[in-house]
Amino acid sequence: MSKSPTVETSNPQVSAGTEVLLLRHPDLLPEPDDFGIQQAAHQDLSDGQVRIALEWISIDPAMRTWAAANPGRGKHIVPGSVMRAYGVGRIIESRNDTLLPGERVLGPFGLREQHVSDTTDIRRVLPHNLDPASLALGILGHIGLSAYVGMVTIAGVTRDDTVVVTSAAGAVGSIAAQIATRTGAHVIGIVGSAEKAELCASAYGLPHCLIRDSPDLEQQLRSLAPDGVDVFFDNTGGPVHDLVMTQMAIDGRVVICGTIALDSRSPGDGPRHERIILDRSLTVRGFLQSRYSESEDQALADLTEWHRAGELTLHEHIVNGLDQAPWALKAQLAGQHLGKVLIRVSPATDH
Ligand SMILES: NC(=O)c1ccc[n+]([C@@H]2O[C@H](COP(=O)([O-])OP(=O)(O)OC[C@H]3O[C@@H](n4cnc5c(N)ncnc54)[C@H](OP(=O)(O)O)[C@@H]3O)[C@@H](O)[C@H]2O)c1
Repeated sequence: MSKSPTVETSNPQVSAGTEVLLLRHPDLLPEPDDFGIQQAAHQDLSDGQVRIALEWISIDPAMRTWAAANPGRGKHIVPGSVMRAYGVGRIIESRNDTLLPGERVLGPFGLREQHVSDTTDIRRVLPHNLDPASLALGILGHIGLSAYVGMVTIAGVTRDDTVVVTSAAGAVGSIAAQIATRTGAHVIGIVGSAEKAELCASAYGLPHCLIRDSPDLEQQLRSLAPDGVDVFFDNTGGPVHDLVMTQMAIDGRVVICGTIALDSRSPGDGPRHERIILDRSLTVRGFLQSRYSESEDQALADLTEWHRAGELTLHEHIVNGLDQAPWALKAQLAGQHLGKVLIRVSPATDH
């Protein structure tokens, strides 16, 4: 990763902290060299604005899409701009009548230590008793909400279902699997390594986890789901998706949450599933969690209750320091993490 020239601040006595820029659109997967670090220019607040000191920043596979030259959806990031990322921080200065210093807020504030906001990008003001605050980027944030939308709202999982979840040791996958488990369903995870299968068993109560590269994956799945798969919550797409599709039961529901195994520029050819979808009366539905904001309050209430009851947990993979964010993203996309990847912006941040 290259170090960009330091930007002059309008008040060199006051540091606005570090920020991570996207230097160029990645070829395919973002590399640390695609990013640069600089010291941010201090900016005085205007009326209505607040200054937020970031505490936790979420590293998400979606950053691969956001950094791309043609993201397909969402905003195009111009090289030289601060990289987009969701974070949680405290308001440390305010010229806003309703948002006062001390409040904790959540939003797409970017890979930076401090953010000046006109408050339009503040997605939620967090409850004072939220502890730890990183929950708002995990079980009680976009991760838990994505799992909820896919497993509850779309799939309508029931105790009679046999459920398959890909990337089941990951952030969304582990919550989706636990939601299905608490419902009483028979849940089968698919993961990238034996270590991840072990995490699923010990931390998430998921005893049936298959390794996606196993040569006999199809036979293993068939023996765990002899009557077929009723709900397929897919985080990856690609060859494992193709295999699970052949094992779907009549009236099965296929929920497409993510396609990390595909090259988004050119996904390549795959088997044709039309006959399977028709013959077995399958419902196939993709979703973007951000389009389900109307039902967010109910989803958050349920996720909070289940978390308090000890039915949902999420392993956190914490990386210290904002300058490590480009490496954390690379490692996440390669699957070299367990659970939710978070940047602890300041080592002093409590947990
Ligand atoms: N639809 C929505 O609104 C929404 C919202 C949030 C996230 N998502 C999507 O949900 C998925 C999971 O997100 P997350 O934050 O929970 O990430 P994550 O699962 O914690 O991390 C990504 C995982 O993907 C797996 N993976 C990486 N390359 C792969 C490949 N070539 N083939 C198969 N698996 C591969 C790895 O798991 P293994 O090592 O276990 O294989 C890796 O750990 C992502 O695709 C993300 O884009 C969608």
